[in-house]
Amino acid sequence: MNSMRELLIDELSDLYSAEKQLVGALPKMAKAAACEKLRTAFEEHLAVTVNQLTRLESVFQELGEKPKRKKCKAMEGLIEEGAEVIKKKGLPEVKDVALIGAAQRVEHYEMAAYGTSRAIAESLQLITVAGLLQETLDEERDADTELNNLALSDVNAEAVAASE
Ligand SMILES: [Fe+2]
Repeated sequence: MNSMRELLIDELSDLYSAEKQLVGALPKMAKAAACEKLRTAFEEHLAVTVNQLTRLESVFQELGEKPKRKKCKAMEGLIEEGAEVIKKKGLPEVKDVALIGAAQRVEHYEMAAYGTSRAIAESLQLITVAGLLQETLDEERDADTELNNLALSDVNAEAVAASE
C-alpha cells in the first residue's frame, strides 16, 4: 500500500477475480431457478457480467496495467453460499426466494467494491476510468433493483402460496 494507484490496481484486481468467478456461477444459479422470469434474469445478468469483465480489461488497458493474480475471497464465499442454496432440497418456490437473496448479496458486494474503486479513480483524476467504473456500478444497481422487483411482484408471493 505505497500509493493510491497501487491500491486502485489491487481493488480492481479483486473485482476482476470476482466477476470471473461470477461468470462461472451464474449459469448454475439460472439452472437452479424454478421461476422462468428469475432464470431469465440470471441469464441476462450473465451476459452483463461478461461485458463487465471486458470493461474491466479496458480499465486495466487505460491504466497500462495488468490485473494481479489474486482470488476475491468475498466473492468466493458468496458463491459458496449460493451453491449451498442450490444443493438444498425443498419447495422450488421457496428456493427461488433464497436464490434471489444470494444474488442480491453478490450485487451489494459488487456495488460496494465498484463504489470504492470509482472514488479512488476520481480522487486520482482518472476521469475515463472513473466513468467506466460508474457504468458498471449503475448496471449492478439495476440488476439489484430488478431482483427486488421480481421478489416483490412474483417470486415471494408464489413461495408463500406454495408454503400453505
Ligand atoms: Fe458485475
